[in-house]
Amino acid sequence: MGVRALWYENGQLVLLDQRRLPHTETYMRLDTCREVAQAIKDMAVRGAPAIGVAAAYGFALGMAEGLTPEECRDVLASTRPTARDLFSALEFMYRNSSRADEAARQYHEMVVGACRRIGELGAEYMPDDGCVLTHCNAGALATVEYGTALAPIRHAVASGKRLRVLVDETRPWLQGARLTAWELAREGIEHHLIVDNAAGHYMRLGEVDAVIVGADRIALNGDFANKIGTYEKAVVAHENGIPFYVAAPTTTVDAGLETGDSIPIEERPGSEVAVLWGRRICPEDTPVRNPSFDVTPAKYVTAFITEKGVVTPREIEGVVHGR
Ligand code: MRU
Repeated sequence: MGVRALWYENGQLVLLDQRRLPHTETYMRLDTCREVAQAIKDMAVRGAPAIGVAAAYGFALGMAEGLTPEECRDVLASTRPTARDLFSALEFMYRNSSRADEAARQYHEMVVGACRRIGELGAEYMPDDGCVLTHCNAGALATVEYGTALAPIRHAVASGKRLRVLVDETRPWLQGARLTAWELAREGIEHHLIVDNAAGHYMRLGEVDAVIVGADRIALNGDFANKIGTYEKAVVAHENGIPFYVAAPTTTVDAGLETGDSIPIEERPGSEVAVLWGRRICPEDTPVRNPSFDVTPAKYVTAFITEKGVVTPREIEGVVHGR
């Protein structure tokens, strides 16, 4: 059995606390909607699809506590602004609030099924023998199971391709170093950790055959938001003629957004950047800016790998609208 970021058991949401990885595998047992909201805010669970599934169960817990559907929705919607999946999940739960437990399970299965399919469809685009670079963690931890960006890698390796993965450490939360490397190491997939600033170096040297990342929100024109630093990787990949793939379920597409310009970008506390290993790394009075995501224009995307097919940015709108 691969990694599972969360599951529902005996009326509780059980979450693998991702803040404590890779050192400790600790599970949190959450009983209330507000506890789930806090866990999302504090990044015990993170990654767009996993946030969505956690929120679906949080909604179901809220309904069991006697909150109204509006209260469940509002408590959970105020946690993190960028990941579209959070809102996709809440809209689904709101529509199905009269059967919340069953709806949460259904949403969960839908996301896991989508990621499995992304793996199957995306594996074909991975090199037969080569190196793939990824940013942040878009693995099982970010999606509950399989992953988005990591799913095609897993599937390709399982079907005999010889892949090596370059893992950006992903400051400031180090999702690459702490989470992606942990997932790959557990499965014996060959990888190297690099500092974020080394990605361009390896691309220019010709050592990277493809870049694959996840997404937090995709606009109808194919612009997308993902972990801060993704934009730079896309530009450098383009400059070096390297294919750049974005793997995401269609729950990440925002059907109400024409372009990426109005994607809400979460600003997180400056302390996440200024304090490293318990010590401040800059003068006390140095102000910090800490955007958690950036927007990559559609022109840098070779293809979106979704559960409904592999499409160009121009085709993404048709996929969501079933055309
Ligand atoms: O701040 P995080 O860790 O929630 O950000 C996660 C990412 O940016 C992932 O790359 C994205 O959600 C895609 S996850 C399948």
